[in-house]
Amino acid sequence: MSVRDIRTIGDPVLRERARELKPEELRAAETQSLIDDMIETKRAAHGAGLAANQVGEAVRVMLVEVEPDNPRYPYKPPFPLTVAVNPILEPLDAETVAINEGCLSVPDLRGEVERHVAVRARFLDRDGVERERIVRGLAAGTFQHEVDHLDGVLFLDRAEPRTLMTWEHYERGHRDEFERRARELVERVGS
Ligand code: NI
Repeated sequence: MSVRDIRTIGDPVLRERARELKPEELRAAETQSLIDDMIETKRAAHGAGLAANQVGEAVRVMLVEVEPDNPRYPYKPPFPLTVAVNPILEPLDAETVAINEGCLSVPDLRGEVERHVAVRARFLDRDGVERERIVRGLAAGTFQHEVDHLDGVLFLDRAEPRTLMTWEHYERGHRDEFERRARELVERVGS
């Protein structure tokens, strides 16, 4: 396993629509190594999720995991490692919420993005088994953020431009208010 370089905004691979994987491609040693590397890369960078095109591979593989005491997103409840291949998301209803997001591929910026509060995620796990999960709250936002990556979309494309801020200004003037909103959301709908 190894930590891979994370591609940053301006790299064309972040703007490609990643392609679906066939079952035999998912089983291939190369793909399984990619998944291991993505896990290691996400953990080393303290991300909440990662999409394969962020490490330069335009295939529909993403993962979400929030480890306890994540320093980058301390308000996110722990979420178990979930590897999702060829994911499809479907909102459960029309409710949306503004989430203050960051992205490992967009250094030093955060901003407010409207996300569905609850989604149904259907995907293959890394062994090719079909899975279905209902995901709510901040984790639902992370799933939508990662599937956007696979479609070549960055959170900046969806953010209200006037809400963009550096991490320094987030810490200085916005963190307390957002963490209050994040806690309310978690209490109301779960992670
Ligand atoms: Ni991202």
